[in-house]
Amino acid sequence: MAEEIEEEISAEQPAEEVSVTEDAPKKKKKWPIVLIAVVVVIAALGIGFFFWHQQPSFCNAICHTPMDNYVKGYYDNASGKLANTHAQANVKCLDCHEATISDQVTEGIAWITGNYKVDASGNIVGDNVTATKAFCAKSGCHDWNAVVVATTDWGGSSGVNPHSSHQGTIACSNCHSVHGTSTMYCNSCHSWKLPTGWTNPK
Ligand code: HEC
Ligand code: HEC
Ligand code: HEC
Repeated sequence: MAEEIEEEISAEQPAEEVSVTEDAPKKKKKWPIVLIAVVVVIAALGIGFFFWHQQPSFCNAICHTPMDNYVKGYYDNASGKLANTHAQANVKCLDCHEATISDQVTEGIAWITGNYKVDASGNIVGDNVTATKAFCAKSGCHDWNAVVVATTDWGGSSGVNPHSSHQGTIACSNCHSVHGTSTMYCNSCHSWKLPTGWTNPK
């Protein structure tokens, strides 16, 4: 045994000495490679996170409550939600919801502290997004003239158009809900045709 150990030591000794003297300059050169590797890995993680963050499934990957209902309605072709109509047109969550750092920090804190409420359907109470004309028309998504034409003489009633009335330009959110049920705002005073799946104002 003792002999074996001695042999091993003596066998290793010269090898180590050689490596110290010969590898010394090489070892120094390895640092830039290690640094580059670290930078590449961090960049890859960053890019990976960036693309993951773009995916609708990112939203409820961790924040099941309250995000599940939004993501489900988005993917479910039977949900009848405008979110799904947009999913079918390949519009992503972040195309509508601009992910500002401050918003994300606020959302993160609200989630961690549980400082939010959800309604019976699972949607957040007190939505802070109002879909204005600009919100829906950004990136040229909706050609307003075409929208007005589409609902001319709405429900067969001559002169009635939810998109052009004595109400002027009102936010789309008055009627259209992306994640919830749309409401025929005009019907708080009139009784124009109610689109399928919509409700009248209470
Ligand atoms: C007063 C209620 C009301 C408001 C406000 C409203 N809409 Fe509509 N919208 C309707 C109704 C009713 C329809 C027809 C039913 C449907 O297609 O869902 C419709 C349909 C549409 C359609 C589909 C048109 C098509 O080609 O069939 C688009 C796009 C649209 N609205 C966009 C908007 C945008 C953008 C805004 C805000 C600038 C807006 N709407 C505001 C009631 C409204
Ligand atoms: C077509 C644009 C659009 C798309 C796509 C969209 N949203 Fe929304 N989102 C809205 C609008 C408008 C509201 C305001 C409430 C409503 O209309 O139902 C809203 C409200 C919300 C809210 C409530 C809190 C707030 O900020 O108002 C959450 C959470 C949310 N969306 C998450 C999502 C997630 C997750 C996805 C993707 C799975 C998504 N949204 C896709 C337009 C969109
Ligand atoms: C706050 C109540 C109120 C709301 C909301 C409202 N209207 Fe009116 N509207 C009136 C009144 C009042 C008149 C005038 C009296 C009448 O003719 O009934 C009128 C008249 C009209 C007329 C012409 C007369 C008729 O009855 O044919 C049209 C068309 C019309 N509204 C469409 C709309 C549309 C479309 C919306 C939704 C974008 C809307 N209104 C929302 C109260 C309202």
